[in-house]
Amino acid sequence: MTLDLRLLAERMGNRPYRFYPTLPSTMDVARDWLREGAPHGAVVLADEQTAGRGRLNRPWQTPPDSALALSVVLRAALSALPQVSMLGALAVAEALDKLGVQQVGIKWPNDVLIAGQKVCGILVEVDWDGITLRGVIMGIGVNIALDFSGTDLDGQAISIQTALGSPVDRLDVLIEIIHGIDTRWALLGSSTLLKMWKARLVTLGRRVTVHAPYSFTGVAEDVDDDGALWVRDQEGLRRRVLAGDVRVRDAQET
Ligand code: BTN
Repeated sequence: MTLDLRLLAERMGNRPYRFYPTLPSTMDVARDWLREGAPHGAVVLADEQTAGRGRLNRPWQTPPDSALALSVVLRAALSALPQVSMLGALAVAEALDKLGVQQVGIKWPNDVLIAGQKVCGILVEVDWDGITLRGVIMGIGVNIALDFSGTDLDGQAISIQTALGSPVDRLDVLIEIIHGIDTRWALLGSSTLLKMWKARLVTLGRRVTVHAPYSFTGVAEDVDDDGALWVRDQEGLRRRVLAGDVRVRDAQET
């Protein structure tokens, strides 16, 4: 459904935001705005992205009228950086709960899932002014009305609309997410936020294949304060994975 720009303005209230019908990526516009002095919480929103990017240099698709693509400018302390993407995933997961979506979880590090299928990805980029942290850009991509059936992502990705079985208003999703970021912001850097994120992780206790610079299979046992995943490999060695991706293996897989 097309975004009603008048309603968008109304619901964003006093929040500084910039909306673009089409952009290569909201991340770049948000970074430029940050460098020009964007305030904490400023939002860049695009209906369509032509060069959206995901973690690990993967492309991210945002066709028009069917997804949410936003980047939020955040003025975070250096010490709290590891928790910024946790905060994003938590805010999205809680927004989905409020919209009545069932079986919402987080796959390490920060994919939001519905019934095991990815509905949202979070990309955090940091901007430095020499050795000073200028700010953080949190990119959020949510599948609202995309239909993945018959595509390569069938069974791996899902839209909110498919999960709910009824149309969903993109503006409602957007506002809930932004509200979640605002309300959880005070918890950034705290053990409370870490616990809330950890409680929603569907990865813990599961057999996983880790795709970091190297690949291995093991059991995801824990996460630490920095959000790193601890995996016990097949030789019984505990390995710490700070960045990368995991595939949660089905129970019947050897
Ligand atoms: C991932 O799961 O790999 C993260 C995906 C992040 C996608 C969002 S969409 C809005 C923002 N702009 C981008 O180019 N990427 C992020």
